[in-house]
Amino acid sequence: SGGGGPAVRRLADWDGEALLALAGEHETPLYVVDLDRVEENCARLQSAFPDADVRYAMKAHSGAQVLRTVREAGLDAECASAGEVMRALDAGFPGDRVQYTAVNPPARDLDYVVERWREHPGLTVTVGAADTVDRLRDRGFDGRLCIRANPGVGAGHHEKVQTGANAKFGIPIERVPDLAEQWAAEFDLVGVHAHAGSGISGEDLSAHRELVSRMGDLAREVESAVVSLEFVDVGGGFGVPYEEDEPPLDLDAVAEATREALGEVDATLAVEPGRYVVADAGVLLTTVNTVKQARDATVVGVDAGMTTLLRPAMYDAYHAIRNLSAPDAESTPVTVAGPICESADVLCEHRSLSRPRRGHVLAIGNAGAYGYEMSSTYNSRPRPAEVVLSEATVRPSRRRETLTDLTTLDQ
Ligand code: LLP
Repeated sequence: SGGGGPAVRRLADWDGEALLALAGEHETPLYVVDLDRVEENCARLQSAFPDADVRYAMKAHSGAQVLRTVREAGLDAECASAGEVMRALDAGFPGDRVQYTAVNPPARDLDYVVERWREHPGLTVTVGAADTVDRLRDRGFDGRLCIRANPGVGAGHHEKVQTGANAKFGIPIERVPDLAEQWAAEFDLVGVHAHAGSGISGEDLSAHRELVSRMGDLAREVESAVVSLEFVDVGGGFGVPYEEDEPPLDLDAVAEATREALGEVDATLAVEPGRYVVADAGVLLTTVNTVKQARDATVVGVDAGMTTLLRPAMYDAYHAIRNLSAPDAESTPVTVAGPICESADVLCEHRSLSRPRRGHVLAIGNAGAYGYEMSSTYNSRPRPAEVVLSEATVRPSRRRETLTDLTTLDQ
């Protein structure tokens, strides 16, 4: 591939000593996000899709410093909520580089987005239900509209993240041309959109191709019967390797398959990757506080759990783990568990690690996407801190939540 550095950064590639020093200085649990790597990932996407609009799905990581990096790299912002629209505009994305993808949007979200659209008329709203259009109209919106189609084909790393064929998302693709005709009279109809799901691997490429080809047909139909479109957005979902020996996605091959499946359209191709931009730019550091011999396992208790990184509990997701404090210790099978009172609160089970002891710091890989973002304060556990790295400097990016922060909303 063109610019942008190596296709994948594995947990083993991180400087263990530097991470240990960060854990010492900032305490754990600590997220570390390398903004230089975010930039490289943006550059690789742009070089694979040189004439497409690349929109960052900021639900993967919506921290201000990540957003500014992505904006400076030239990507647009794809937002899933009023809060994300606020963050994108705050981070300096101009309105015409902000897309809001409404999924059963709460009234408060529509109120906010329409208000912001009045100041930033370049903002685009993507709708997945006729109801949403009625509700936008009621609020006086007549701006840039995009229709989300449900293409009937989904893909992704887990059933819970496959959206393309899930009834919750979008308007059945066969109904889109009629609605496009109706809505083009009233709004500035600029695009059509679909998203297959998240964590697409090489094996899912045929599903991706099928989705794109259906979207190409849809765009041609709308363009010939209704109005010429500015873009056809085929969603995000480009996967990254989580297992140490998993090959990286061949992004150039995905781009080529996308182009080929789309066929000739006047509209610009748009893609909305989230995970690909930030996953391998982040690690989570956690400290061992307990080592105990259970009946059938050695349990290693750590200070990060499902409230810090939800993915293992929610999707049985695999994240690489490395013992930074004793890289050369003999390896031993362990279960790494967090401090939350749920049996789902395990980061790995029966995994071979360099023998962890109390006080050791473990690094958890690919934690940049859907890591901090899905954290919570369940069990009244404060959220972790985060620092960003940029050209060999370290900057705080999210303050650690304190116990007293936990009660600030109580009345
Ligand atoms: N566009 C839309 C409309 C989406 O719903 C999503 C993700 C994306 C783009 C970006 O997908 P990505 O490129 O990041 O795969 N929490 C889950 C992932 C949920 C993704 C939801 N939608 C996880 O941790 O695996």
